Amino acid sequence: MREPEHAASVIAAMAKAVKIPVTVKMRAGWNESERNALTLATMVEDAGAAAVAVHGRTAAQSYSGSADWDLVATIAERLTIPVFGSGDCVEPGQVIDRLRAGVEGLLVGRGVLRNPWILAQAADLAAGRAPREVTSADRGQFLLEYIELLLHERVHEPAGFRHVAQGCGPAHGGSHHRWVINKLRALGSWYTKGLDNGSHLRTAINVAESLDGLRDHHRVVLRRRAAVLAARRARHHLTRAVFLDRDGVLNDLVCGTVSRPRRSRSMSSGSPGAFPRRSERCAPPVSS
Ligand SMILES: Cc1cc2nc3c(=O)[nH]c(=O)nc-3n(C[C@H](O)[C@H](O)[C@H](O)COP(=O)(O)O)c2cc1C
Repeated sequence: MREPEHAASVIAAMAKAVKIPVTVKMRAGWNESERNALTLATMVEDAGAAAVAVHGRTAAQSYSGSADWDLVATIAERLTIPVFGSGDCVEPGQVIDRLRAGVEGLLVGRGVLRNPWILAQAADLAAGRAPREVTSADRGQFLLEYIELLLHERVHEPAGFRHVAQGCGPAHGGSHHRWVINKLRALGSWYTKGLDNGSHLRTAINVAESLDGLRDHHRVVLRRRAAVLAARRARHHLTRAVFLDRDGVLNDLVCGTVSRPRRSRSMSSGSPGAFPRRSERCAPPVSS
């Protein structure tokens, strides 16, 4: 970003050398006094870039402050090649709002890592539906599926297809399982944020020595959580079952041993007595 002429010459050389589209991702600028994304975007377009993506923060900002979507919108308006915007699409509603900046599309980073359903939820909103609900069981299951996905990734690549850092990879004792665990650790720091017992899961991922161990641990946690939820639901159900008394009065009676008596003919006429009176009601409300 500090040497736009140099960047443009690199893009020109690449565009000439390859048959596939060359795309460029950039930030808003280097820092507050060098916000040159519009200049650089125009130059790389002239140099032959097929599309541009702009994260509306400066390099100096890193992830602080907020992304400048006015700048992204200006660049989208000025260029003729497709422009993609990026920055602060963390909630499904923000995804929809950002698309209104006139961009061709979005690059969503942290939002997807925290909530892999964000794009589906944004599509729900765009279609006029409420965003789909994601249960903690869904989130737990996702992790198991992600492990399976990673286990089958990169396994049939021909030698030399991918650059491997020196000292890493199978030739140096780095197993595919180890690679999967490292990927999970990278995801875990994002994915576990805001999750029930997220810090426990994060720790489990970070100390895992084997995938089998991690999967077993996670399955136990999921089963335990499902049992807790089922118990909560059962309690909630019981609470609800006794909420309305025979006179139709909403009351706060919660007593695990009392259940609504079957209605007999004589009781259904509204005669009192079959259901405990308010004074007989026995336990404080249970929060469900
Ligand atoms: C874990 C992580 C990895 C990323 N890797 C890349 C990358 O390889 N190349 C890139 O251009 N941007 C990368 N980004 C930046 C994102 O594409 C995006 O521009 C930035 O995170 C701002 O969007 P957000 O607010 O939706 O996170 C990465 C971001 C994160 C959080």
